[in-house]
Amino acid sequence: MKLAKLTFLSEYSRYLWGLLIVALCCWCASRWNVWFDNPEEDAYEPSDVPTRILLTFGDEDGVRNRNISWTCGKVVKESFVELVELNDNGNLNGNLNDNLNCQPSALSPQPSALNSQLSTATGEVFVSRSGKAAYYVARLRDLKAGHTYRYRVCTGGKKSEWHEFHLPPSHEPETSFLYMGDIQDSIGGIANQLLREAFGRNPDTEFLVCGGDLTERPTDAYWGETFESLDSVGLSVPVLTITGNHDYLKGVVCQLERRFSLIHSYFLDSMVGENQVFTVRYKHVQLFCLDSNREFFYLWTQRRWLEEQLEGSRAKWKIVVLHHPLYSIRGSMNNLIQRWMFDDIIREHGVDVVLQGHEHAYARMTTSSQPSTLNTQLSTLNSQPSTLNSQLSPPIYTVSHCSPKSYRIGFDERVDKFGTGSRYYQMVRTRGDTLFLTAWDANDGTLYDSLYIVKQGADTQVVDAGRDIPERLTFTPDPHNKKDVAFAERIKAYKRRKHL
Ligand SMILES: [Fe+2]
Repeated sequence: MKLAKLTFLSEYSRYLWGLLIVALCCWCASRWNVWFDNPEEDAYEPSDVPTRILLTFGDEDGVRNRNISWTCGKVVKESFVELVELNDNGNLNGNLNDNLNCQPSALSPQPSALNSQLSTATGEVFVSRSGKAAYYVARLRDLKAGHTYRYRVCTGGKKSEWHEFHLPPSHEPETSFLYMGDIQDSIGGIANQLLREAFGRNPDTEFLVCGGDLTERPTDAYWGETFESLDSVGLSVPVLTITGNHDYLKGVVCQLERRFSLIHSYFLDSMVGENQVFTVRYKHVQLFCLDSNREFFYLWTQRRWLEEQLEGSRAKWKIVVLHHPLYSIRGSMNNLIQRWMFDDIIREHGVDVVLQGHEHAYARMTTSSQPSTLNTQLSTLNSQPSTLNSQLSPPIYTVSHCSPKSYRIGFDERVDKFGTGSRYYQMVRTRGDTLFLTAWDANDGTLYDSLYIVKQGADTQVVDAGRDIPERLTFTPDPHNKKDVAFAERIKAYKRRKHL
């Protein structure tokens, strides 16, 4: 009897194991493409004139240092940036000469204008899965704060058009920059138009920050689309982007191609091991960029880096940028490793804002604090005084995206405000003791959210000025799709809970 019972248990256990293995195989099969499928890259030929020019930051000095990257041809040739400083009236001292000697044979190219200087670029050939191209980076250092420069790039006798950028005065208290989460535009998409409209509405924008997945996939065609999207923005204001999962080639261990760093060239000098981390100080703001798509042991290295950087920072405003939201809006079990790695450090070191992407919706979350005695006059953007008496404190965690895809989200009760069915971007402005964080619907240009952080002495408070701006949760479910139907039900339940 005992033997029969043992035999039955053994058979039963074997049956359970079999079921488990089959279920695991089915699950792996359903996730196979998500984990391992990399789209093919079509064969390509690089342009034989300088193209895909990108202005960006160079190192931690975001006021005086810039990098310029570009591509040209398949072999490395002598290359440089010609830089001309404009006078106080924004004009040239002298004339530009289009006959600049870009020929490498002389090895002594002559500047084409009075007061112009040549900055040598380093070149490197990158061989991708379906082609190769030469990439160049010029590192412009110790430029004059508050001045405007005109520049063009030159490779092997081929030169670009002239472009222009401006450096801010070092101690100017005001900063304005635009943040876009994932852009990852489809070929022929509308990101170019959205960017032009966003910059048109915010002409004081000093630089653009992208929250990863700027490029849909690491292929030459999508890189071309990225530069179509950035257009003149990438020529005239620094573009700072971080890594997202779409920037990586999928595999058991994900791989980032070298061309990512050759294009977003500040990473060439800032990487810690294989981690794409970077920090830049721009007036009173310091940004800390993380590489959240990496495996656990890489994130551990980044944790130590972030802690060191935050401890050493004297910036008034500290902003962390990473791709994966630390408080996922898609599921409570998502991104837990990233949260365990970074969140305690972010909170302990007085980070003000955490800019995130990846989950293709809008969300923002504040932290509750004890009632404050702080009661002060706020100088708002339109100079209207208002009284502050808030129980919220930083960090503000925010998610946005500007891509063609919207994802189905959950409605975590910790999050104050959501948006879905549109594209969103944020403006960050600092004015003295106040940081203004506003979110805009990129499709129709309407204000979607607004928060202030006010610092006075040791007291820091968050004001929710966006709570009366209605939440828009737009979604048309496919009635045959169970996940769509469930998401539509979640939206209804959320609206009931919030009395929307
Ligand atoms: Fe992503």
